[in-house]
Amino acid sequence: MSPAFGGCSANAVSAEGGLAPIAELRSQRFAIPRYKNQVDGAVMDKIVIDGGIRLKGNIEVSGAKNAALPILAATLLTDKKCVIKNVPNLRDVSTMLKILRSLGIRCWMSDHEVIIEPKTLKNCVASYKLVSTMRASICVLGPLLAKYKQARVSMPGGCIIGQRPVDLHIKGLKSLGAAIKIEHGYIVAAAKKLRGANIFLGGAYGSSVLATANVLMCACLAHGRTLIENAACEPEIVDLAVFLNKMGAKIKGQGTPSITVDGVKCLEGATHSVIPDRIEAGTHILASAITGGQLIVQKAKIEHLSALVDKLDQVGVKVKAYKNGDIHVKRKGKVLKPVDITTLPYPGFPTDMQAQMMSLLALGDGISVLTEKIFPDRFMHVSELNRMGADIFLEGASAIVKGVKRLSGAEVMASDLRASAALVLAGLVAKGRTEISRIYHLDRGYERIEEKLAKVGARIQRVKEI
Ligand code: EPZ
Repeated sequence: MSPAFGGCSANAVSAEGGLAPIAELRSQRFAIPRYKNQVDGAVMDKIVIDGGIRLKGNIEVSGAKNAALPILAATLLTDKKCVIKNVPNLRDVSTMLKILRSLGIRCWMSDHEVIIEPKTLKNCVASYKLVSTMRASICVLGPLLAKYKQARVSMPGGCIIGQRPVDLHIKGLKSLGAAIKIEHGYIVAAAKKLRGANIFLGGAYGSSVLATANVLMCACLAHGRTLIENAACEPEIVDLAVFLNKMGAKIKGQGTPSITVDGVKCLEGATHSVIPDRIEAGTHILASAITGGQLIVQKAKIEHLSALVDKLDQVGVKVKAYKNGDIHVKRKGKVLKPVDITTLPYPGFPTDMQAQMMSLLALGDGISVLTEKIFPDRFMHVSELNRMGADIFLEGASAIVKGVKRLSGAEVMASDLRASAALVLAGLVAKGRTEISRIYHLDRGYERIEEKLAKVGARIQRVKEI
């Protein structure tokens, strides 16, 4: 292990005063037991990475967080038992299960499978205490309104990546006949009867994923036909529609901007396996690219990653799927060519990959411009990457990334889910040791990422923040 690099906290120092090699971290007091099913880990963990290893080997992708969350909420539309498989073991999933339990629903998770018995529902209130920890909780609003004709869901509030308004959710549900008011920080919704309607759901920034999910779920039990125009086309919406149709819903057009729903009287229970997480897959593809390694990303769907694969081809990284679904990643040469990227609703370049791509382009051979059209403030990772030697400055909703020769390890702080992933990627290639604190952000959307990366050669360890 190379000698100590400046700026590492005391607890990562070996007895001789140098840097404790990563392997030792696990055996000593500041290491914590292997991170298993500790989705609610209250411990302020941090991740320590000694960069410079080219990753090689197979890395598996878990189920999609952003499909699992609305699908778990959709079980509120029936009284019957539902079984949801391939659910990722994440903090956000744990939060959604807490919300369902707070409604009186019996549900439990074991080995990526969730069993839900919704017939025990006791109330229709999703509290601020829970909703404020995960804004996706708002997707219980549509199903509660549809099934129980009432709902009281805390306004989710903004987060570090933007204001996160809910006007499109409210517009869509009102169009179906709901009376909605904002009272004491809660969205209070009620409806005598829900009727199908033609709803344009486009906002200032285009389509809305969770507004589409809420309106889609609510329309399933409305009387008559609903047409949702400018609907989100994300694969997670398609997966939700597939699950709803398994329950007996009559949905067509999912995956296109125009979705039609013919309301039915009631929905049955169903069993469903969640699609793979395309953002996790994209993050692992970039882990291979940024380290100059050769990872094989497994259990992912390359057809969900077209925009990323296209941009990486321009950068000089070849991403190829084989018949068995394995995705092979290999750099075409030493140079990473600069590219310009604008984030757009699916199938455009995903905003959830913007931060991670910035880490790669920070080492590009020239100037790249990343423009954020979905969440214009989603640049909390820039200052932390600059602390690692990147040369990035912001111009409105664009980040101007001047490529540098190398990044250097540093103590950095995670601020949100995808910014954390960007810092992990930077740490994997940086010279020396990177310590990333507040990685509870990372645990919201990546299952045991440090274990998965360690298996393909990364010198990475989760330790307790003392
Ligand atoms: C979903 O959030 C994802 N979360 C986000 O992933 C993702 O970044 C986002 O879609 C965009 O793809 C989940 O699926 C749980 P939006 P969502 O409504 O649905 C504006 C991650 O890292 N808007 O599609 O909340 C909004 O401000 C997370 O996994 C309105 O104006 O996002 C934004 O500019 C982060 N009015 C744009 O639409 C509304 O009523 C897209 O937001 C709703 C949204």
